[in-house]
Parts: sequence; C-alpha cells; structure tokens
Amino acid sequence: MAKLFEPLTLRGVTTRNRVVISPMCQYSAHDGHMDDWHLVNLGRFAIGGAGIVFAEATAVQKCGRITHGCPGIWTDTQITPHARITNFLRRNGAVAAIQLGHAGRKGGMQRPWYGNGPLNDADFARGDMPWTPVAPSALPVADGWPVPHALTTDDIARLIEDYASAARRAVQAGYQIIEIHGAHGYLMHSFLSPLSNRREDAYGGSRENRMRLATEVTAAIRAVIPDDMPLFFRTSAVDGSPDGWLIEDTVALAETLMPLGVDVMDCSSSGIAGSATAAGNQKRQPGFQVPYAETVRARTGLPTMAVGLITHPQQAEEIVTAGQADLVAIGREALVNPMWALHAAQHLGHDTGFETWPEQSGWWLAGRARTSDFYQPDTAAAE
Ligand SMILES: Cc1cc2nc3c(=O)[nH]c(=O)nc-3n(C[C@H](O)[C@H](O)[C@H](O)COP(=O)(O)O)c2cc1C
Repeated sequence: MAKLFEPLTLRGVTTRNRVVISPMCQYSAHDGHMDDWHLVNLGRFAIGGAGIVFAEATAVQKCGRITHGCPGIWTDTQITPHARITNFLRRNGAVAAIQLGHAGRKGGMQRPWYGNGPLNDADFARGDMPWTPVAPSALPVADGWPVPHALTTDDIARLIEDYASAARRAVQAGYQIIEIHGAHGYLMHSFLSPLSNRREDAYGGSRENRMRLATEVTAAIRAVIPDDMPLFFRTSAVDGSPDGWLIEDTVALAETLMPLGVDVMDCSSSGIAGSATAAGNQKRQPGFQVPYAETVRARTGLPTMAVGLITHPQQAEEIVTAGQADLVAIGREALVNPMWALHAAQHLGHDTGFETWPEQSGWWLAGRARTSDFYQPDTAAAE
C-alpha cells in the first residue's frame, strides 16, 4: 500500500490520506467575505481526493488582509460563507482546514496580477485604497513600501484576543484544523525574524522574546478550540539570509510550540523581504524545502508537513516513506490538476479501478477502462 494513501490521525481527526492542498490566496473575496469562487475552487480539491483542503490565509483583523481581495474571519458575518465551504469539503471526504493569518507590514498590497507591490495610483483608481499596516517595528518591507505602525503592547494584547476570536469563529464555521500562518514575511514571521523585529521590549531582542507573539497566540487559540482539534503552525524555516531566522531557530520554535498544543509544523521558507515567496538565497528545485520538514521532525519528534515544488506522486510517496514528513502539501500543481490526489492514487497503485473516485464519475470511468484499450488509468509506479 502506498504510504501517501495511509490515513493519518491527529488528535480527533483522521485524514483519508497524506495529501494536503496548501493554502493559496485567491484575492477574490468581497469585503473580507468568501464567495462562490472559493467554494468551487476549494471544492474541486475535495472532489479530487485530497485528505486535507486548506482555505487560504484568512485575516484575523481587517488590517491583516494582504490585499483588498483577501478573506477574513474577524467578524461574525464572515462565518456563514466559510460554513458553506466546510460543509462541501466535509461531505466530499476532505478535512476542512483554515489558515489564520495577519499580513502585518505586507497588509494592503496589490493583488499579484496588478503588480504584487505596494498599492499605487492605478489601484486607488480601482477603489483599492491604502491603510496603515502594522508590524513589530516601523520598518517597511523595502524602499517604496509603506512605513508600518509599530504595535504597542496594548495593540498586541488586542491582536491575541482577535486571533482567539477568529479561531472560535473558525470552529463555528466547521473547520476541523486550524493553522497559524507564521511564514512568508507576514506579521507573525516579522516578529520572529531579527531582520524585521527591532523591538526592545518583551516581544523583541532575544529569540525567546521574538517567539513570544507566536507562543501567546498559540496558547490563546489552543485555549478556545476543542481538545480534539489539530493545530498546525506554518513557519518560514529559514529567511535565506545568514543574519535572519535560521533552521536552528525553527527547531527551537517547534520545541516551544509542541507543549503548547501545536500538532504539526508546516515547513515553508523565506518571504521576509519582498514578495511572499521571495526565495532569499535559496535555490528553487524540486522539494527544496523538504529538508526543513525532515530536520524539525528528526530533531523534535513533532509531525511535519513538507511543501514546495512537490509535483510528482512518486516524489510525494518517497517523502513520507523516508520519514521526512507526515503530510505533503501540494500548491501550484493542484492548480494544474485539481484531481492530483486521485491521479496519484492511481499512479502509485492504491486505486487502479477508480474505486476512490466520486461515485458521480468513478462508475463511468471504471466502465470506460473495462471496455476500451485507450483510456487506462496511469498506474505506472505500481507496475
Ligand atoms: C496562488 C498562491 C497563493 C498562495 N497563498 C498562500 C497562503 O494563503 N498562505 C500560505 O501560507 N502560502 C500561500 N502560498 C504558498 C503555497 O501554500 C505553497 O507553500 C507554495 O506555492 C509552494 O508550494 P508549490 O510549489 O506546491 O506551489 C500561495 C501560493 C500560491 C501559488
């Protein structure tokens, strides 16, 4: 049996396999509310057989949206559109998951297709007006970006309460897993990294202080969600700069978050300066971030999720069989093929007869394979 298709139990949740659809912003929300686009976009991944489907970075405060098109969960009216999505995902066999985020100093930027930089006159003309972003220190992302407001300790206390309220709403909306977005240069990551955090109070300076926001948010969320609900943390495992956040720091963070109730460390990287996925000094190649998941898992015993240029079923299978990670997140390749998980199951010989396909299509496809030489499933790795 392909290990990628073994169920995984985390607290009270069992996934049908180890394939996760990585959170992917759609920049298509209206006033912070999810709509039909999100339902169909995420729904197709549940139909496509993924074990866990993540809703994109969802803001815990209005100023925590990345763009005007980003969704939120800072107010109760946002619950119902989320619930529509979780209903569909769950009814179609996927575990419904949400990433709670705050854009921090990257809040209020352009949708990628309008430039992926700070808002400019063309965006204002479209009605996308700027707001003052927030950060640990009044340091912009780069020249030409807005100077953020440095959060006071009162602001931080409110922020932590807002994370907890957002988590409560996420539970109410039917999500079964929550992930804290601690990566890609957004607010949480900008507290962790010495490149962006120059505070001199309890939230800056030493590594322990820079981790304080992450630990307090984790504890606050864990206190309001059910005990049997898994909590993930996405980290930028390295900044890609020798003066920045390093893999040793990520191991220390995992060790700190584990006793506070984090169940999975989701290991991404970079983004502290420039666009969300700006690579720092790392070379992009297949599975380039897998060693981070492997190191955290080996050093701490905490389950991990690997992500980044994982595109082929055999590659994903090898990651889980080698014990580099417990879960494999698929991002852009799922945009190429939303049925990625079902095709991977065929390729790895887990399902050679369309048995795990939705009944609306599996019966027909199995029939076609029985009666035609031309339309056989790809079971290459099983042969
Ligand atoms: C359109 C798009 C939107 C993304 N939005 C998010 C997001 O909301 N939160 C996040 O942590 N990462 C986000 N990412 C990063 C992905 O989750 C993933 O880590 C990255 O694309 C690398 O995986 P891949 O090579 O399989 O695409 C996004 C990526 C893409 C392509």
